[in-house]
Amino acid sequence: MIIKFLRQQVVLFITGAFLVSLLYACQGEPIAESPTPPATPAAQDTVVATQFPPVAYPDRELSASPAQLPKLLYAYDALQKAIDAETMKLHHDRHHATYVENLNEALQKHSELKNRSVEAMLRDLNSIPEDIRETVRNNGGGHLNHTIFWQLMSPNGGGQPTGEIAQQINQTFGSFDAFRKQFNEAGEGRFGSGWVWLVRNAQNQLQIVTTPNQDNPITEGLYPIMGNDIWEHAYYLRYQNRRAEYLNNWWNVVNWSEINTRAQVKSQQS
Ligand SMILES: [Fe+2]
Repeated sequence: MIIKFLRQQVVLFITGAFLVSLLYACQGEPIAESPTPPATPAAQDTVVATQFPPVAYPDRELSASPAQLPKLLYAYDALQKAIDAETMKLHHDRHHATYVENLNEALQKHSELKNRSVEAMLRDLNSIPEDIRETVRNNGGGHLNHTIFWQLMSPNGGGQPTGEIAQQINQTFGSFDAFRKQFNEAGEGRFGSGWVWLVRNAQNQLQIVTTPNQDNPITEGLYPIMGNDIWEHAYYLRYQNRRAEYLNNWWNVVNWSEINTRAQVKSQQS
């Protein structure tokens, strides 16, 4: 009897101890709040892959270490259907050469930029030190624009567009004649010095734009497929103030083969 009583007491003690420990277990540790979710990675930690197609040439960007005047691929008098030899000589040997010299002179002050292409600098002008930013904009732009320009013309150029660009022009503008009219009107309408361009925008659409001075469309995130120089130095000797006539004759030397190569480039990816 006594043993049975003691056994009951032991069972009650063990059960009580278990319940007490269970109670403490529930009350002891405060329930932790949900852990703070990890912060969104800081902007500087996020790697954004960027890939830009070259603009100066189909296969490479324009070096600025140092910048060099490219050779013309034809004689000064080879584009007489639109541009006289004297203008070509002055335009290439003096005007373009001066942009190259000025760009190199400015970059000598900032050796940290020597490995950057002209395109890279013009895409991100805010990263260029302020003391040479405007010089790089004007002369880097001048160098890039003219490097493209010489390639866009050929003694065997002119006529109707061919290949993919012909289809794209028809789709976008209705016809080549409608496109040429819009392009010429845009060029005539640009006040002062500048350029008129056919570009591909971020939505992969063709678009006609103009830029002032020596600005290149890549600064606005646009890819230049073709462009015409509408500075007076490009036409004044032969056409004087008749810019419209120059714009009209320029189509006689347009290099559709080169333009088709550039038309293959889709919009910049970022
Ligand atoms: Fe020019």
